[in-house]
Amino acid sequence: MPATVVVGGFYGDEGKGKILSYLSLADDVDIGVRGGVGPNAGHTVVFKGKEFKLRQIPSAFVNERSLLLIGPGVLINPEVFFNEIKITGAENRIYMDKNCGIIERRHIEMDSSDLHLKGTVGTTGTGTGPANAERVLRKLKIARDVPELQKYIEDVPKIVNEAVDSGKKVLIEGTQGTFLSLWHTDYYPFCTSKDTTASAICSDVGLGPKKIDDILVIFKSYVTRVGGGPLENEYSEEEARRLGMLEVATVTGRKRRSAPFNFKLAKRAVMLNSATQVAITKLDVLFPGASGARRYEDLPREARDFIDMVENELKVPVTLVGTGKDVMDVVDMRKEKL
Ligand code: IMP
Ligand code: MG
Repeated sequence: MPATVVVGGFYGDEGKGKILSYLSLADDVDIGVRGGVGPNAGHTVVFKGKEFKLRQIPSAFVNERSLLLIGPGVLINPEVFFNEIKITGAENRIYMDKNCGIIERRHIEMDSSDLHLKGTVGTTGTGTGPANAERVLRKLKIARDVPELQKYIEDVPKIVNEAVDSGKKVLIEGTQGTFLSLWHTDYYPFCTSKDTTASAICSDVGLGPKKIDDILVIFKSYVTRVGGGPLENEYSEEEARRLGMLEVATVTGRKRRSAPFNFKLAKRAVMLNSATQVAITKLDVLFPGASGARRYEDLPREARDFIDMVENELKVPVTLVGTGKDVMDVVDMRKEKL
């Protein structure tokens, strides 16, 4: 474990919130630190019967012992941040870096009215693209400049590096997905406003490549995408509903488009992120008999065959398999194989 970075392998919404919260508990992490773009991401965590939709605070909040940090590369919408502190009760263990960029009302207005952004790209309208554009121009306000945020400011890269150096467990949370990356998208301009691969997520929190022990890439057992851009072998809405794959986006409430698992994309995601482990989520949607399974032996034969096929094709071990909504609905292959 010591330092593990977790990223999405497709177009976001692979179930990162679920896997991250599971890992924070199962591996009892000392620190959960969030990288990625900002509040355009929605991580869903279902814990003790309650559903949390997190756009800023790390999913590791479910482990009350974990220190929660937000890296300097991440944009903050203070309103969303304060609201999530209330929801999670994480007030006394959440900190951000002074260099986190700040989203203001005008960024949100531009993101949700601009013909190209809203119309063509189909952004989440959360202001992240316009704020990052202003950041590049070096005009964006940063957390350092906002009085209400002062008590939440810490030197995040320093804390994270010292923790890794002293052998503590650090879970680095990526957001979005590999093919939403500004550099590595499959169909520009249908992408987000930054790189979203493992290297970028590490840079967002100030950890160099040598400090990373594991890179976990998450794939859902089928592909979904929100917003514009081509989607290979896309199901019709009718088919998606019949297959139980019709999802609604966490941040925008839009319907997600869906398609079968895509091995070509998955292989490329393994390459772009240099994955050392793979997680497969929502296996219960493909194989209802897998629903709620927490042990390998409880998985139906077809589900095990699918896992084998993923391992054979991607040449990376599948270490975690999601089988339901609850944080603990996971087959942890790391334990099963011991
Ligand atoms: P933006 O990131 O809001 O600029 O949106 C750009 C594209 O990325 C749109 O297609 C969004 O739907 C997509 N996107 C951004 N963040 C996420 C995410 O967390 N999950 C899924 N799609 C996302
Ligand atoms: Mg999401």
